[in-house]
Amino acid sequence: MVTRYALTLLRPLLMAASAVFFMTVFQSCASSQDDEERRMDRFVSSLMKKMTIEEKVGQLVQIPANFTTGPEVETGDYKKAIAEGYVGSMLNVEGAAETRKYQELAMQSRLKIPLLFGKDVIHGYRTGFPVPIGEAASFDLEAIERSARCAAREAAASGIHWTFAPMVDVGWDSRWGRVMEGAGEDPYYGAAVARARVRGFQGDDLSDTLTILSCVKHFAAYGAPIAGKEYNSVDMSMGQFANFYMLPYKAGIEAGAATVMSAFNDFCSVPCTVNRQLLRDILKDDWGFDGFVVSDYNSLGEVINHRCAADGREAARKGIEAGLDMEMSTDCYSSHLAGLVREKEVPMKLLDDAVRRILEQKYRLGLFEDPFRYSSEAREKSIVSSAESHADALYVSERSVVLLKNEGNILPLSPDVKTVALVGGLSKSAHDMCAKWSCADERLAVTLYDAMMRRDVEVLYNEGYNLDTDEILDMEKTLADVRKADVAVVAIGERGEYSGEMRSRGDIEIAREQQELVQAIAATGTPTVVLLMCGRPVIFNEARQAAGSVLCTWWLGSEAGNAICNVLWGDYNPSGKLPATFPLHHGQIPIYYQYKSTGRPASNGWWHSRYMDIPNEPAYPFGYGLSYTEFSYSDLQVLPGDGKDVHARVSVKVANTGSRSGEEVVQLYVRDEVAAITRPVKELKGFRKIALDPGETAEVVFDITDAQLGFWTESLEYVVEPGDFTFMAGTDSEHFLSGGFTLEESLHLKMKER
Ligand code: BGC
Repeated sequence: MVTRYALTLLRPLLMAASAVFFMTVFQSCASSQDDEERRMDRFVSSLMKKMTIEEKVGQLVQIPANFTTGPEVETGDYKKAIAEGYVGSMLNVEGAAETRKYQELAMQSRLKIPLLFGKDVIHGYRTGFPVPIGEAASFDLEAIERSARCAAREAAASGIHWTFAPMVDVGWDSRWGRVMEGAGEDPYYGAAVARARVRGFQGDDLSDTLTILSCVKHFAAYGAPIAGKEYNSVDMSMGQFANFYMLPYKAGIEAGAATVMSAFNDFCSVPCTVNRQLLRDILKDDWGFDGFVVSDYNSLGEVINHRCAADGREAARKGIEAGLDMEMSTDCYSSHLAGLVREKEVPMKLLDDAVRRILEQKYRLGLFEDPFRYSSEAREKSIVSSAESHADALYVSERSVVLLKNEGNILPLSPDVKTVALVGGLSKSAHDMCAKWSCADERLAVTLYDAMMRRDVEVLYNEGYNLDTDEILDMEKTLADVRKADVAVVAIGERGEYSGEMRSRGDIEIAREQQELVQAIAATGTPTVVLLMCGRPVIFNEARQAAGSVLCTWWLGSEAGNAICNVLWGDYNPSGKLPATFPLHHGQIPIYYQYKSTGRPASNGWWHSRYMDIPNEPAYPFGYGLSYTEFSYSDLQVLPGDGKDVHARVSVKVANTGSRSGEEVVQLYVRDEVAAITRPVKELKGFRKIALDPGETAEVVFDITDAQLGFWTESLEYVVEPGDFTFMAGTDSEHFLSGGFTLEESLHLKMKER
């Protein structure tokens, strides 16, 4: 009693003391950060004083080694150039020993400025993770961050300082193969994923040898090529960009991304690589980005192909003026920039600014203290492909699977299932499971076939169709095995290499033969599960209609087989949701849920926005995904805010009414009922992934702030207008409860102030 009383008296004192303590700690952290920044500033300034113009230009030069990820380039005697200090960075060098070898060359140069090694570590390094669109289906930011952290840990241990990831381009057109590398079609969700990935790669401290620099790419709007055709032009107004594409880039920068990659395409008719409005005005001036911008592969030289520069010299001048700091692979900077500066066509201060930005990142990585600190073979051996990495990959892969259909609850497989007919060569192909942009060690990848053979069931395996030609193989034998089995599991899909860069496809329908095979298997009466393996939304109407159950497994990487089996047998209850709309028909593409309100709104009646011959509705909407349990939504309420930043709160009750524990992604959509500009019919503005036991109910509350209500104008003003809004909370973009709200005041914010 006495103690409690004494504590009550002492509480204000203790609180004041602890406030002072935390303020002091905070201030001393802030001031030690300032000290560190000042130290870096002094170091970089003094180094730059010693540099010749050629050495400065050298820092802006990145050359490919070992293999190219674009057209072949002439790198000349690059080893000599490195040893002379005329190269700042290399891409595609990997491995502690290999990076050490090149760094030793750089240490022969006059000023011994270390090289920066960059690589596309897109979905895991030696331990492969799900392709990014698959990982995004987890709607689990902690898992996504964990995946990037693991990739960084392994890559850093292999001498790599910098990944060209995350790709944050919003894509609405799944003909474009690179939808595989992004987080899907939604800018709000894309922004959340961008933040998680940047945090995962970079951690809190870039000098930590478990972290690497991230690169937000491709700035900007690379995900909107006309007709979904790779490397095509982009036709984009500023308002469209700001409202539908911009947020993920901005979020990545705000999360501290150290670098940004410019896009191949043009933006408002100027190639992004030399687009001053994008790189200098918006990115560096408005958003205060203090890292550096690297071009995409060859893209500065390709400004000549865009016919926006007559030659390399003009491209170099336009690049540096626009704010492009490092040139990947072509030689416009290395051949012309020094001359341009000497002849005063380019001010020295532009060159200096670019050099400083690059040197600062090298400093932050700790490379000036020890240029070899990432190139440790001992660390590489213990970290790369470790059991910890594989556990991370399994965790993320399980969460990325989306259950699209489960008629008659075929899944999870019951303990009575003794014989499984496994059909489809994709289930046995480690190469496909690791997919495009893979750095994974395929020898360590666990295929579905491998994992299923370890289960306590008899597996009757048939290849089903030829992986290259899709031709059906020995249908009679396959069907005979299916008839003997308790369940048929059929892996269909695109090859792993069919999505990614340069993988635009005019036809994204799963091969007719594969679908006919599914139909024939299902017609035997044996319960049939389809596993859809892909790196993009695809069309597979016949197969999904014929099968009892469908799981979209994307390409899951090294732990694909274990993850899929865990989901099949219910050791993990699937919780993924589609981050992109799956079309019903090619004619619907591009298709996305946040289309705008029109004068003759979308509907299948006459005089409405529609097609003569196909419905408006997709095969599966954005946010869709089932579970082995059931969730029911009730009691949506719009509650008052806090009188300050929170205008209102949307609360909804979610109950697990099924018989298994499970996770649900509760989604909040907002519609602005009347606005000065045309607005989407709904936009995702919040989501929460929750876990519920059977019989459990949770109340999920979303705060509504300016960020949920406003829009961007063509002149990049963020505007929140007063008036009516509708809030929709539910299980996907088509199924929700809704409630209304009226905002009384308005507010206009300039972009810089946000
Ligand atoms: C891609 C980039 C990639 C670069 C380096 C380009 O072709 O567009 O995303 O980072 O190559 O490999």
